[in-house]
Amino acid sequence: MSRFALRNGELFAEDVPLSRIAAEVGTPVYVYSRRQLEDNADALRYGLGILPRVHLAYAIKANPNLAVVNVLAKCGYGADIVSGGEMARALAAGMAPDDIVFSGVGKTVAELDAALAARVGQFNIEIEEEGAILGDLAVARGTRAQAVLRVNPDVDAGTHAKISTGKAENKFGVAISDAPAIYARLAALPGLAMRGVAAHIGSQIADLAPLETTYRRIGALVAELRAAGHDVTHVDLGGGFGVAYRPGEVYPTPREIGAMVARATAGWDVTLMFEPGRVIAGDAGLLLTQVIWVKPGTGHPWVIVDAAMNDLARPALYDAHHEFGAVRPSGTRMTANLAGPVCESGDTFAKAREIDAVVRGDLAVLYTAGAYGATMASTYNSRALVPEVLVDGDRYAIVADRIGADTIMAAERVPEWLTA
Ligand code: LLP
Repeated sequence: MSRFALRNGELFAEDVPLSRIAAEVGTPVYVYSRRQLEDNADALRYGLGILPRVHLAYAIKANPNLAVVNVLAKCGYGADIVSGGEMARALAAGMAPDDIVFSGVGKTVAELDAALAARVGQFNIEIEEEGAILGDLAVARGTRAQAVLRVNPDVDAGTHAKISTGKAENKFGVAISDAPAIYARLAALPGLAMRGVAAHIGSQIADLAPLETTYRRIGALVAELRAAGHDVTHVDLGGGFGVAYRPGEVYPTPREIGAMVARATAGWDVTLMFEPGRVIAGDAGLLLTQVIWVKPGTGHPWVIVDAAMNDLARPALYDAHHEFGAVRPSGTRMTANLAGPVCESGDTFAKAREIDAVVRGDLAVLYTAGAYGATMASTYNSRALVPEVLVDGDRYAIVADRIGADTIMAAERVPEWLTA
């Protein structure tokens, strides 16, 4: 059940009418549902409950808003981080350092050292050299870093090329065939406590088969590492579980995911770690917008809304589909192109799509925008950085301000020698 639903002809987020948020906060604005975040977090935990030992690390990149991360910390999730900034957010939201996993293909020496200082629970090593540097830093601090080796299993996740990470040609992890030798060298370093392996093959994965293939390859690697005398206590299976963006799309349920993982990992005797992002935050947010005009077009009219590619980049970047709906649907439909005000044709959310009929001034939403939405926003065209609201029952709070050009300009300087 979605926490965004029509009541008496008007769209609500939980018990708050979206028209109220639009009137009080303005548009465009992201609106998140606390209950939906909790429902998603609980459903995944329940689905994976069939497994003996599980650690859930929410992928902060999907939606790093402090209030959102706080909700997930309260649901008992740790964090998957890929930068010092994400570490700061996880810690600020109250996540225990030990529950934080540091992923990322380009961690800097400063970031590695800061994470050691913060006692982050696990480092996912992407390159042998990174492991060596981490080991040295740990020795210098008189500690040992808990680490796993990220392998590239060479599996096609069947997702968009820009968010596929597990094929041999992608930049992530070490080739699975090189993993035993690299693992052995890293395990011999005094500063590293190597405890297992990790893989993540991509995002918005629709089909469990490539994940199962990956897990089976990892299982063979675990057996090989153990045969070579290594302790393997943790396997990080990454994230990537997809969500429905179009009505009627069917994605694997948490229960189906759990059943597949149980089958593929039977007998491993490890703590299984997951890094879910989209499946937690995706349908827990929408982008609320207002129709600026409906402009005649050659084929179909253009519905120009006040949200744009700088607020929600996914359609421009990945041709992603976000369902559009009126906040007060009249019951009639129209076929239209849907676009924002930014000065490029890429700023188009939909072409020739059948949508709720709208006119100038109407409020509308782009659905399933809770993951990889606000976090990928920019101020292109000197538009404001889009604000965020979290709804909880019949109350809501602004959890990120609208940051306008004045604030952005205040951080810019015109050098004296230019004004002289
Ligand atoms: N773990 C690692 C190592 C990752 O690289 C990612 C996502 C995740 C976990 C979380 O994946 P999820 O469960 O959310 O699929 N901006 C793109 C998605 C990029 C995903 C990057 N890595 C989009 O809007 O579709």
